[in-house]
Amino acid sequence: MNSWQDAYRGLRVTVTGGLGFLGSNLAHALVRAGAEITVLDGLIPGCGGKLGNLSGIEQHCRVVHADLREGEAAVAGADIVFNLAGEISHGRSMTDPLRDGQLNTVSQLQFLSQLARLRPGVRVVYAGTRQVYGVPRALPVDEDHPIDPVDFNGIHKYAATMYHMLYSRLGQLDAVVLRLSNVYGPRMALDVPGQGFLGVFLRRALMGEDLAVYQPGDQLRDPIYVDDAVDAFLAAGAAPALAMRSFNLGGAEALSLERIAATIAEAAQTGSRVYPLEFPARDKAVDIGSYVADWSRARRLLGWQPRTSFAEGVERTLAFYRNNWDAYLPEACPAVEAG
Ligand SMILES: NC(=O)c1ccc[n+]([C@@H]2O[C@H](COP(=O)([O-])OP(=O)(O)OC[C@H]3O[C@@H](n4cnc5c(N)ncnc54)[C@H](O)[C@@H]3O)[C@@H](O)[C@H]2O)c1
Repeated sequence: MNSWQDAYRGLRVTVTGGLGFLGSNLAHALVRAGAEITVLDGLIPGCGGKLGNLSGIEQHCRVVHADLREGEAAVAGADIVFNLAGEISHGRSMTDPLRDGQLNTVSQLQFLSQLARLRPGVRVVYAGTRQVYGVPRALPVDEDHPIDPVDFNGIHKYAATMYHMLYSRLGQLDAVVLRLSNVYGPRMALDVPGQGFLGVFLRRALMGEDLAVYQPGDQLRDPIYVDDAVDAFLAAGAAPALAMRSFNLGGAEALSLERIAATIAEAAQTGSRVYPLEFPARDKAVDIGSYVADWSRARRLLGWQPRTSFAEGVERTLAFYRNNWDAYLPEACPAVEAG
């Protein structure tokens, strides 16, 4: 049992983006921890939100279906706010930067200004991203690494980070920003494009299709299993006053893209193979190369560390989708190979 788990019993907690991948997993954990939950989510087309993500806990969650900008009803009375609403697609931010800016900056600023007025000083934990650092100058990346995002999503997420920081400096909010590496696990929207390479690999492996690895293939990533990410949010929400407000979060292992693809393909047992593919020029322009987080600050100040190996997380993830196929993968389920 984690030290923060009892902290949520009877608390009124708002989760923005709570119908999405990360937010819904957090909502499930909060229900288990005995919190009273309000979910604020606009079910924005192109994002990963689904009403079905709250399947099994619907009766414990009040859902406010609205954009962040109109979220007043969802935060009145909140003891803690987990702010996970956002657009995650780096690629879409390059083809439609205004949409990304609207969702990740304008809506965020309007939400935070309302929150500061209605619930002054409230703890708000924001889902930031490693994308703000751009191409790492050295690995692993700690929180003092220069900020130099390579796409509009990274720029907008950094702006939203700084809104949280400014309101905190002014004493109007008490924000903590978690800068996440790639997260994977149950309730990712595998049927929605633009949710990142892990979703593509998982979907293709489940369907028995081959996995393309952009070359050279030895680029490092440190995927975080969603339960570990959720634990970090719970720890950050419950932590007493913190000396630092930004925390990098990464997974238990740094693995090459080739290794990640091979682990998923082998675990799926559908016959899907991994093959090399030249990096498409458009994607290469906004690529960050290798990334590995230094999460020692989170371990020191939040008592958090990732606990799930990649192999174990992939097994659990594949099992979830096999048990919930129709909700997440509309196509027919291919046979699993023996052995
Ligand atoms: N999944 C990852 O690997 C990852 C990595 C780094 C950071 N993050 C951040 O974590 C957060 C959650 O990511 P996710 O993977 O759960 O994405 P998701 O797309 O599954 O969920 C996001 C949810 O936010 C909602 N939303 C977006 N903008 C909104 C707005 N303006 N008003 C109301 N609702 C809105 C969407 O409808 C969706 O349900 C995002 O802010 C993302 O930037 C995610």
